[in-house]
Amino acid sequence: MEEDVYRLAAQRAIEYLSALPSRRAVPRSGDVEALVQFDSPLGEEPEPAERIVESLASIGSPATVASSGGRYFGFVIGGTLPAALAADWMVTAWDQSASSDAASPVAAALEAVSLHWLLDIFELPQATAGAFVTGATMANFTALAAARHWALARQGWNVDADGLAGAPPLTAMVSAEAHPSISKSLGLLGLGRGRTVVIQTDEQGRMRPDAIPDVDGAVIICAQVGNVNTGSFDPIEAICSRAAELDAWVHVDGAFGLWAAASPSHRHLLRGIGGAQSWSTDAHKWLNVPYDSGMAFVSDVDALTEAMAMHADYLAVGEGRQPKHYIPELSRRARGVDIWAALRSLGRSGLAALVDTCCRHATRFADGLRDAGYEVLNDVVLNQVLVSFGDADATRRVIAGIQEDGTCWCGGTVWHGRTAMRISVTSWRTSDEDVERSLEAMLRIARHVSTGPVPG
Ligand SMILES: Cc1ncc(COP(=O)(O)O)c(C=O)c1O
Repeated sequence: MEEDVYRLAAQRAIEYLSALPSRRAVPRSGDVEALVQFDSPLGEEPEPAERIVESLASIGSPATVASSGGRYFGFVIGGTLPAALAADWMVTAWDQSASSDAASPVAAALEAVSLHWLLDIFELPQATAGAFVTGATMANFTALAAARHWALARQGWNVDADGLAGAPPLTAMVSAEAHPSISKSLGLLGLGRGRTVVIQTDEQGRMRPDAIPDVDGAVIICAQVGNVNTGSFDPIEAICSRAAELDAWVHVDGAFGLWAAASPSHRHLLRGIGGAQSWSTDAHKWLNVPYDSGMAFVSDVDALTEAMAMHADYLAVGEGRQPKHYIPELSRRARGVDIWAALRSLGRSGLAALVDTCCRHATRFADGLRDAGYEVLNDVVLNQVLVSFGDADATRRVIAGIQEDGTCWCGGTVWHGRTAMRISVTSWRTSDEDVERSLEAMLRIARHVSTGPVPG
């Protein structure tokens, strides 16, 4: 029976989720090596779906990174809220193309509702256009495509119709601490990864508005809220004031930092945010929905739709908001459904608590490490902690030891010339107990590294 395989998959998925609290943050090397079992020649004959699910569960699950568990602090990776995961299962069962209301009334409707809720949470005007894309990289690309359209249209040039050859000058200004997805997006948009004017930052990685130079022609300024290393926020209000003098478009990359708006105790970090022209964020980070889910918001609806709209007789659709006119893709997953489910399950207070709790955990990590004599390199204003365990070699050895130990997982970085370990707390699942267990492991390994070989 067809239903049997769905029940089996649900059962194996539930078993996987139930085991998360007791399993290692990363797979053992033997489990990764066992993935070779997947590498068989494609058989001639069909296989039963149940057998396929069983091999995913028995070979695949052990080789996953437990990034949806409570002790994973690498990169900026959110967990998955139960309502969002369950909604995602519904989305998969529905198998909707979320391109238009004709292709999926429910996808279009829930995306529109999510957009209204998000604009409200981020305190952006309700007329702002929204694009539901794969992640913040694509959100940056989408918003900057609108910015490019606007900047050149003001000089009498329609870049989306006529391309860039022969176009008037356009300067993209990018913080020295911008996430690399900004320069990648500018490259994809033909503006050149290497042609940007780089704006200097302060010791926390915040853009210095006084360093924004005067230039001729159209300008796009790329700011950020939530530096991937320090969690710091560019001073958006001052940047927007300076941008007004240049008549520039301000884009704000808020992949995780924009979610500070949901918390009354962190919202002040975003002062002036409504003065920008576009914003990007990720739902798969701090909203804790499954991958892949990011959003771009653009105040100039026409600039976005001029860049993104797709028309054809066969695609003629209804009167309402048509998702395909705001995004690079046509057919795609009904991402708005997971977002709607996550927001509804949290409510405003739950979302604020999610942000505040992660920040509280980050502060506890910083305090615990500092109290033990290690140097915290950043002002912990949000959910990111940078810690040094001595010189570069010692810090690298501690990171390697922590990754090998498997109690928790943290990655490394180099911050202003100092090798550091990054701790990013972004999951609803992380409990006080997870933090204490992880801190104990970090300190145990750091002590061993300073006194001898790292325990295996
Ligand atoms: C500030 C910032 N911008 C953009 C991105 C890219 O996001 P994504 O991986 O969703 O494309 C990240 C990822 O961590 C980020 O921290």
